[in-house]
Amino acid sequence: MNQVPLQLDTELLLQWYDTRRRILPWREDPTPYHVWISEIMLQQTRVDAVIPYYERFLAALPDVKALAEAEEEVCLKLWEGLGYYSRVRNMHKAARQVMDDYGGRIPNTSKELQNLAGIGRYTSEAIASIAFGEAVPSVDGNLLRVYARRTEYDGNIKSPQALRDAEAFYSERISRDRPGDYNQAVMDLGATVCLPNGDPLCGQCPWNRVCQAHSAGTELCYPVAPPKKARTVSQHTAVLLRFSDLVLLEHRPEEGLLSGLPGFPMLDGHWTEEKLRTALPSAASGLQIRTQKSYRHIFSHREWEIQVMEILCNSRKEFDTAASALFSGIRTMTADVAEIRDRYSIPTAFRPCIQYLHE
Ligand code: ADE
Repeated sequence: MNQVPLQLDTELLLQWYDTRRRILPWREDPTPYHVWISEIMLQQTRVDAVIPYYERFLAALPDVKALAEAEEEVCLKLWEGLGYYSRVRNMHKAARQVMDDYGGRIPNTSKELQNLAGIGRYTSEAIASIAFGEAVPSVDGNLLRVYARRTEYDGNIKSPQALRDAEAFYSERISRDRPGDYNQAVMDLGATVCLPNGDPLCGQCPWNRVCQAHSAGTELCYPVAPPKKARTVSQHTAVLLRFSDLVLLEHRPEEGLLSGLPGFPMLDGHWTEEKLRTALPSAASGLQIRTQKSYRHIFSHREWEIQVMEILCNSRKEFDTAASALFSGIRTMTADVAEIRDRYSIPTAFRPCIQYLHE
């Protein structure tokens, strides 16, 4: 296999990036704030899904001061649909840290960036390299895959050792003049050429002559990863308890899945109409129960099978009685249908329930 000097190796990549890079809004004007917002959004979400959220978020909250001064509910609403809401909560907190502890200026080194809420090692390195020109590699899944193929790395790609090895590899090669472009070039290479699923497009790769897997024809054997663990599946009954325009919501606990967000209250297991009736006191016997279509919601490591039961009450008293009989142990609140649409950010896991409110 050909060996090329490290400098040429880097140049080949940057030349490719200059003509083939993806045009992405945060690359057009990479201020620290823009890069920060984009990197947080990109943590668990695909590039094309992020773009409209990124644009809407910046239109509403154009700088760190605006973010720091915004109500948390406004930030959550702008995030609705992106998932992993702790990301936006932390970003909001970090904006306040920037205003209070750094005089409104986002810190300019990867080390200091890690003092801010929600910024771990990878994100700090991405921001520091792209926005401030610090020559550190930011090793994400794309950089790991490209590295594993280039070197036929046969260790577990999910291990801390693989991360250290990849960091050492890229640290030697990263462009000192254009470190942000270097990192983003490998990200783009991973996303558009050295593809995760299906055949990589090696004919288009600036590194194909130095890639060990390509030269051995073993591209599809790398990266090496342990088998994925099966998701934990659980059954729940989401209850749409309603009186007139009023709906019962849960303020979800501060710990665990969808923590601190509003949702529909749930019972463990799949409940039938009969079982619900038995759990309700006779004072609520006039209410109507409708079984709606059940659905499944998939999180990264868990899966909910959700049965939806709609309970229509005839009076506020009946509503309150049913609420305390079924949900005395959880923190509940009430909202009207318009508030659920416009004010609260109800996680996607409950989207089908919201549709039933409008039917
Ligand atoms: N994924 C994470 N950060 C990215 C960036 N700056 N460009 C493209 N994909 C990314």
